[in-house]
Amino acid sequence: MKSSVNLVILAAGQGTRMKSKHAKVLHRAGGLTLIEQVVKTALEVGPAAHVTVVVGHQAAEVKAVLAPSGVRIVEQSEQKGTGHAVLMCRPALVSQGGLVVVLYGDGPLLSRATLQRLIDRQAESHAAATLIATRLDDPTGYGRLVFDEKGELKGVVEQKVATPEQLALQLINSGIYCFRADLLWKHIPEIALNETAHEYYLTDMVEILTRAGRSVAAMEVADSKELLGINTRVELAAVDKIFRERKVQELMLAGVTIEKPETVTIDDAVRIGADSVVEPFAQILGATEIGADCRIGACSIVRNSKLGDDVEIAPFTSIADSEIESGVRIGPFARLRNGNRVAAGAHIGNFVELKNTQFGADAKANHLAYLGDSEIGADVNIGAGTITCNYDGVKKHRTRIGKEAFVGSNSTLVAPVEIGEGSYIGAGSVITDPVPPDALGLGRGRQVIKEGWAKKKRRSTPPVTS
Ligand code: UD1
Ligand code: CA
Repeated sequence: MKSSVNLVILAAGQGTRMKSKHAKVLHRAGGLTLIEQVVKTALEVGPAAHVTVVVGHQAAEVKAVLAPSGVRIVEQSEQKGTGHAVLMCRPALVSQGGLVVVLYGDGPLLSRATLQRLIDRQAESHAAATLIATRLDDPTGYGRLVFDEKGELKGVVEQKVATPEQLALQLINSGIYCFRADLLWKHIPEIALNETAHEYYLTDMVEILTRAGRSVAAMEVADSKELLGINTRVELAAVDKIFRERKVQELMLAGVTIEKPETVTIDDAVRIGADSVVEPFAQILGATEIGADCRIGACSIVRNSKLGDDVEIAPFTSIADSEIESGVRIGPFARLRNGNRVAAGAHIGNFVELKNTQFGADAKANHLAYLGDSEIGADVNIGAGTITCNYDGVKKHRTRIGKEAFVGSNSTLVAPVEIGEGSYIGAGSVITDPVPPDALGLGRGRQVIKEGWAKKKRRSTPPVTS
């Protein structure tokens, strides 16, 4: 990209039509906030120093979301309209010449290719500016393009002030523009306050520039999908759906089987290896990486986790912030909360919960257990109903179980506690003291047998008949 292109993204508005306490650009589509999506596209055509975001409503929250990207931030404390917002950026731009691209923070589907095409088109033309236009079956809410008899673009009429005839026009302003910087800054002070909306409309620039004897070109894009803007939650859902469709298509073309793709939710940053299968209604979110030949069961949720190859996640399993090595089997109905590392070949079965636990290679916890803040060695067997009591009401404590240990069913391991390698824990034990390697740890009441006791009881208290 030529160093003289500055990209300005407007994101100061509240988004009244969202009916939300959160600023509109903080709502999510495709797994990222709207503003992150737009910034991501801008950064595909220019370096962070050339990208300026105008924030206003909930500025602190929006800034926090943008901090990692390193883009420039300008505050517009009062939202006086899109024209005013662009004007506020001028002092912050790295260069005053060249081209200025304006994007709106509520149009997250724009592709890099279209944006680059706009910049190239403007750079090669004699126009003062080029804007992206598209035709919509339902243009409600968008600015309509008005042309003169010669077919020259004359102005943009906003929904609020359009006549019924103008409202019927289907060619709309996408809100994506590329201006010659000198002409933008020369004429932008001429935007007058729109009396109906009490805003300075950036779209007035089209009329202002043409009146000054300049021309503004409309670059019509046939695929209107990527130009959709979001004003309501209905539009938010429609845009999110498009992001999801794009993602599953990309994955399927790269060799991933996705069953009933319209039901799954996969975030943009997710990576999945070839011949893996994603079952219906699965959600794979955040920065998740999944290897080859894996299966993600129906209705499972995997978030910010790394899975090796040949991992099978059975249905209704929830996994977050965890690392799962190759050949592991998990679920159905298992929950890996956060900070777990499950080594190769391990099995974790139904109604087992793991939190902050290292689970050894080929170890098994096949049914009904809570394993928190634990280190569990290779080839350990955890019986059904085992509970690590990691919390004493004040602090968390660790449980260590050495390799090849066998923990009998319904054991209660009161942390901090250490179970030695190769040891046995008798079923139903409450273990509070360390168990040495290869020992038997038993901590329960002894069984008592009273011969004939039940028979005697029956004789002394005959059954009641009614
Ligand atoms: C705008 C365009 C319209 C276009 C449509 C495309 C104007 C006047 N109208 O209408 O022609 O068809 O987008 O989606 O530009 N913003 C600020 N500061 C402000 C006002 C707005 O930063 O003072 C930001 C908003 O946060 C938003 C963007 O600018 O991200 C667009 O504002 P919005 O009110 O949504 O404009 P539309 O009515 O959709
Ligand atoms: Ca909008």
